[in-house]
Amino acid sequence: MRLILVGPPGAGKGTQAVALAAHYKIPHISTGDIFRANLKNGTELGKQAQSYMDRGELVPDSVTNEMVKDRLGNSDVANGFLLDGFPRNTNQAEVLDAILLEKKMPLDAALELAIDNSEIIRRLSGRRTCRNCSATFHKDFEKPKFDDICDKCNGQLYQREDDKEEVIARRLEIYSQQTAPIISYYKKAGILKSISAIGDVSEITQKVISLLK
Ligand code: AP5
Ligand code: MG
Ligand code: ZN
Repeated sequence: MRLILVGPPGAGKGTQAVALAAHYKIPHISTGDIFRANLKNGTELGKQAQSYMDRGELVPDSVTNEMVKDRLGNSDVANGFLLDGFPRNTNQAEVLDAILLEKKMPLDAALELAIDNSEIIRRLSGRRTCRNCSATFHKDFEKPKFDDICDKCNGQLYQREDDKEEVIARRLEIYSQQTAPIISYYKKAGILKSISAIGDVSEITQKVISLLK
């Protein structure tokens, strides 16, 4: 299964990606998580990405495309992969197609998670993310067992810099201007599947699995 997840910030791409990657036994590749890991480790890539991420802007394609190309060179993608947060504009979608064409590994599906803005704001403003393993929780909808402690690894939970209200608004703008056009790109390619991202997390996962059968 070679799959990409498309949807606005807070649609639940990361949440669904974890469950789907486990189900299909494929690696979950999140460009946002890779950038945050680099930020945490103080790498050159992290330094390049930080100012864009903090403002809710896209990191330049030259940086992002190289990073993804590199990641897709890893042998663990041989049996499939799930991309979360990439591509995020038409140029990235075209670059991805070129990389996969060369590897003779076309995408099976582009899955759109559809959600409205008011629900996005509720989700993002309450999200808590693990500094250590990137697991996500929500202070009301997906509470960790202990406040500010990750259920999975006991790491510390924090609020992402870009989950503050002003930055959320900018991310939504960027999504509708730059990312939403890739939905019609995949529709034209005949591989778009859309599903509502509202409802119980595990019910959504089950619906996706049936849809992709
Ligand atoms: P990235 O990390 O990809 O952020 P995003 O797209 O804004 O998406 P999020 O991670 O915020 O949301 P999500 O859909 O994963 O939702 P989640 O599952 O966590 O990117 C961050 C930044 O990195 C970008 O702004 C950019 O600067 C840079 N970047 C990354 N990729 C790039 C690229 N390709 N090109 C250029 N720059 C790039 O869920 C959200 C919350 O809701 C959680 O608290 C969760 O618990 C809760 N929740 C989830 N599902 C449900 C449900 N069904 N019901 C109730 N609550 C739910
Ligand atoms: Mg995410
Ligand atoms: Zn953790």
